[in-house]
Amino acid sequence: MKISIIGAGNVGSLTALRLCHEQAGEIVLVDVVKGMALGKAFDMEDARALLKNNYNILGTDDIAEIKKSDIIVVTAGLARKPGMTREELLAKNATILKNICLKIKELSPDAIVIIVTNPLDLMTYLALKVTGFKPSRLFGMGITLDAARFANLVSKDLQVAVTDIDACVIGSHGEGMMPLARFTTVKGVALSELLDETKTEALVKKTVLRGQEIVTLLGSGSAYFAPSAAVAQIVNCIARNELKTLGVSAYLNGEYGEKDVCLGVPCRIGSNGIEDIVELKLDDKERKFFAASAEGSRQLFKTLSL
Ligand code: NAI
Ligand code: 2OP
Repeated sequence: MKISIIGAGNVGSLTALRLCHEQAGEIVLVDVVKGMALGKAFDMEDARALLKNNYNILGTDDIAEIKKSDIIVVTAGLARKPGMTREELLAKNATILKNICLKIKELSPDAIVIIVTNPLDLMTYLALKVTGFKPSRLFGMGITLDAARFANLVSKDLQVAVTDIDACVIGSHGEGMMPLARFTTVKGVALSELLDETKTEALVKKTVLRGQEIVTLLGSGSAYFAPSAAVAQIVNCIARNELKTLGVSAYLNGEYGEKDVCLGVPCRIGSNGIEDIVELKLDDKERKFFAASAEGSRQLFKTLSL
């Protein structure tokens, strides 16, 4: 299994390391900065003797090395700075992503592609348009991370093991994110039965703002430990045909009442990428919020000139 990661910054290089540790496949790490990916790959290689783990990684500044990849992860682009929204990244990252997607289409037309670059849902939509790939084979990682954050915050609040929590978040990886208490369970018990509305709202708000909170604390760059863990989980799910249901940014063609937009929804992930989109029965308030998030995404995409 050949897994290429484009963008060897914080998220890309840590994703590469995680996948190496798990022996997910042959890893190719690419960055436009000369020597950088090669240097990081050498450093990861040097650790093999200490870890007694014979993984394989190639670092390069030549994107041609992604040729015939089975899975490609795109983390190339700029990260958010303090005070900057994900959407402000749109114009700059769109240009970077468009060029990378043209290369993916040319060099790895059969790959399954996971977009990570922000603003996530718009970049995923753009990547689909540029590559023309089937939506089941190109999708985005965003709400997998948001669900992990929600689970963490809930576990601390309820004083329960985070591993007992099955968190559910849908919507955009941004302000249109919807952590859903009704569909989040602690050992089978819905969170809406364990927490009152005020408490739930506070945790939802904290989850939505978590990325921003970390950006502010870091001072430069954005989160990468949890994001890389989320990407690695999706890659492993594809590589091992695990068929787990994970939240990913998927192209909607009527599901959730929406068309021609990419938004985070639960999907069964296996060796074909998205095997199925799982439709949750949303109530009126949730449906309205989801629709507004979809419309916001569509309008923002229209502002883009490529
Ligand atoms: P970073 O700045 O550490 O790394 C980005 C890397 O992309 C840099 O090394 C840069 O040289 C490289 N790059 C730029 N143009 C390139 C090109 N044309 N080809 C190859 N490499 C190129 O940023 P970080 O923290 O790794 O984040 C990467 C992206 O992922 C950002 O857009 C960030 O907002 C996003 N992100 C998304 C998350 C999500 O949940 N979807 C979570 C965390 C980050
Ligand atoms: C995050 O949520 C920046 O999207 C990234 O941390």
